[in-house]
Amino acid sequence: MTPIQAPLRAGFGAVEKGLDTVFPPQWNPLRNLGALGFFMYWIVAVSGIYVYIFFDTGLTEAYESIEYMTHDQWYLAGVMRSLHRYASDGMVLFMLIHIVREFALDRYRGPRWFTWVTGVPVLALVFMAGISGYWLVWDRLAQYVAIATTEWFDWLPIFGEYVARNFLSVERLDDRFFTLMIFIHIAVPLILLFILWVHLLRVSGPQINPPRGLAIGTFLMLLVLSFVYPAVSQGPADLSTVVDLVGLDWFYLGLYPLVDYWSDGTVWGFVTVLGLMLILLPWMPPMRRVAKAQVDLTHCNGCTWCEEDCPYSAIRMVPRTDGSPFDLQAEVDADLCVSCGICAGACPSSTPFRVSGEVKTGIDLPDASLNDLRGQLAEAGGAMAGDCRILVVGCGQGAPLRSLAGEGVAVVRLPCVGNLPPSFIDYALSRGFADGVMITGCAEGDCHYRFGIRWTEDRIHRDRDPRLRRRVDRERIAVHWAGSAGRRSLERALDGFKERLRALPPKEARRPGAGPPASPRAQLETVSRDG
Ligand code: HEM
Ligand code: SF4
Ligand code: SF4
Repeated sequence: MTPIQAPLRAGFGAVEKGLDTVFPPQWNPLRNLGALGFFMYWIVAVSGIYVYIFFDTGLTEAYESIEYMTHDQWYLAGVMRSLHRYASDGMVLFMLIHIVREFALDRYRGPRWFTWVTGVPVLALVFMAGISGYWLVWDRLAQYVAIATTEWFDWLPIFGEYVARNFLSVERLDDRFFTLMIFIHIAVPLILLFILWVHLLRVSGPQINPPRGLAIGTFLMLLVLSFVYPAVSQGPADLSTVVDLVGLDWFYLGLYPLVDYWSDGTVWGFVTVLGLMLILLPWMPPMRRVAKAQVDLTHCNGCTWCEEDCPYSAIRMVPRTDGSPFDLQAEVDADLCVSCGICAGACPSSTPFRVSGEVKTGIDLPDASLNDLRGQLAEAGGAMAGDCRILVVGCGQGAPLRSLAGEGVAVVRLPCVGNLPPSFIDYALSRGFADGVMITGCAEGDCHYRFGIRWTEDRIHRDRDPRLRRRVDRERIAVHWAGSAGRRSLERALDGFKERLRALPPKEARRPGAGPPASPRAQLETVSRDG
């Protein structure tokens, strides 16, 4: 973590914790920023279509038609205009926080560079769409924006004549100019939608819709804002006067004062450097290379579970190459793999119940193998004492784990909780390494590797393969999703779990590791599809 990321992450953690007291964890707006951005896009699109029905593209008609909407048909077209404006502002707001948060949480480097870099044109297009919208109103703000923008563009040697001259007098400006602006204002959002699709190409099953309650609440807020504080124009444009004082929409036009105070060339330099820095950020500094998931064909039966669970579409099922009787085999694209290990947690071969020898599985992380995990688990379990021994299994992204370790509590860290095959929970409890297993990680709805929390819960509840065996006493398992700012809540949850375990009837006394090896039939049950 860089020195810039650490305070940002702490800040986000604190705000998120505050919002968690108001919203259910899944609704926390900070965990739904991309989805809220999309939601704003759809509101902008629908309200834009309605507003367009009443919009006249003529030089004088444009302003008048918008005045008609705002004042005469205020209850519908006026509200639609306001929704159009406020949802556009919301899109910028959610997008900017989304960028800073992905940066703070280090979700932009390594294989994620693609999603980051394709976000940069999204940023530019959102601004282009919004700024072109301000021209269409043809009020004094539009006049200011039009002249400032064209003067700024005139600095570039791309147009033969000064475009800004068009705004010197009414005679020079014609209706075709408005038609061009309308075209830009419609074409840019369509291109934006296409680039957003590219933005999410490498994210499997992206969350593009916010939870229903959050969506309804956000929409109602925009609606109330539209009635209470409707969007209005700033007086008709008048090319015979110089516009000096206008109210700016700081979401879209925040950089415009720079155009007034700096030279055009300096502003171009500033924007170019900013854009380049954004594009190059994933490689400044480059991410430490971590070994990618590797398939071991001798233990792969081509079941596709790893492919279904991988959060970054890094696994493809391809025709078998080793002559074994199965049709398919898993293949990892190392450029897409983020080394989360969720695939190893999904593989039916990932079982620690081996009579002898190493844990060998169909797919595994070379730097954090399941064989090592079994060793750590046995070591941690062997070191614990007392009648209420808890094994905490957590990821490196959630609340700090080290301080939890102590008498009767041992900690094992994984790249992601989704890396934990359910059979390892069974193993820890049935082999007497622990009296209870607590699983913890990122905050709910905010898994650093996207699906770790969801798949873990589904596997424990037997809703997803591989399923935790029925014989495992669920009372002896606790899950607590705390996030990096949730140390205190994790400690409280751990204390609560201890009390719960102490209240249970004593487990059959076993020495760590002394339990009977599971029969091959029992091993099969761990991974059965039908439960
Ligand atoms: C309005 C514009 C944007 C929208 C609607 C949007 C939407 C989304 C969505 C829906 C996701 C997937 C979230 C998930 O399911 O895990 C996502 C991920 C991401 N976005 Fe955006 N995005 C926008 C702009 C940007 C920009 C401008 C950048 C950066 C320059 C960016 C960087 C990222 C990154 C790095 C991820 C990947 C996170 C991961 O791998 O877990 N986004 N975005
Ligand atoms: S380690 Fe994660 S990203 Fe890589 S293949 Fe496995 S599940 Fe996919
Ligand atoms: S989950 Fe395991 S057995 Fe199934 S396809 Fe993937 S590597 Fe092969």
